Amino acid sequence: MTRFLDIAKNRYSCRKYDKRPVEEEKLKLVLEAGRVAPSAVNFQPWHFYVIQEADQLEKFYAAYHREWFKTAPCVIVICANHEQAWKRKEDGKDHGDVDVAITTDHMTLQATELGLATCWICNFYVDKTSELLKLPEYMEPVVILPLGYPLDTADPERHEEKRKPLSEIVSYGI
Ligand SMILES: Cc1cc2nc3c(=O)[nH]c(=O)nc-3n(C[C@H](O)[C@H](O)[C@H](O)COP(=O)(O)O)c2cc1C
Repeated sequence: MTRFLDIAKNRYSCRKYDKRPVEEEKLKLVLEAGRVAPSAVNFQPWHFYVIQEADQLEKFYAAYHREWFKTAPCVIVICANHEQAWKRKEDGKDHGDVDVAITTDHMTLQATELGLATCWICNFYVDKTSELLKLPEYMEPVVILPLGYPLDTADPERHEEKRKPLSEIVSYGI
């Protein structure tokens, strides 16, 4: 297996974290992986809000009511800046979500490579999140990403069963 596929298969949605804080240098590497992600017209229409102080995390749990979420020692909220996002001429499609998805995935994979774990969260309270982060109107919270050392595990070979086979999702030719 290639090194990259190895990392991709080892990434999983972690829903139980150790209290151990994420080292500053590892957090920086995760954020750096997000920074270098590609984006439409290289507009980089994103902002990363990092929450790690215990009292701030406590407050932030109001954004997503799951007991397991409270175990995360660090949370990154990845936001789309809709004033900066590229809009396609033909139909006006705003690519902020697409760009945020790419930068978030960079972060999840870098975290995996560092022995850290993450979980994409989109089913959060949007208004509450915007209020807690005091976001301006044009800044949309798209993903909440807990980050930390995992206390659960996932089988990297689970994709054999848990993902559709290539034969179902790939078509060749027009
Ligand atoms: C866009 C997106 C949104 C998601 N939102 C949530 C969420 O709100 N809560 C949650 O527990 N998991 C969430 N997940 C995690 C998925 O359930 C998970 O990625 C999927 O079941 C595959 O499992 P794996 O990540 O462990 O491979 C989300 C994943 C993605 C990509």
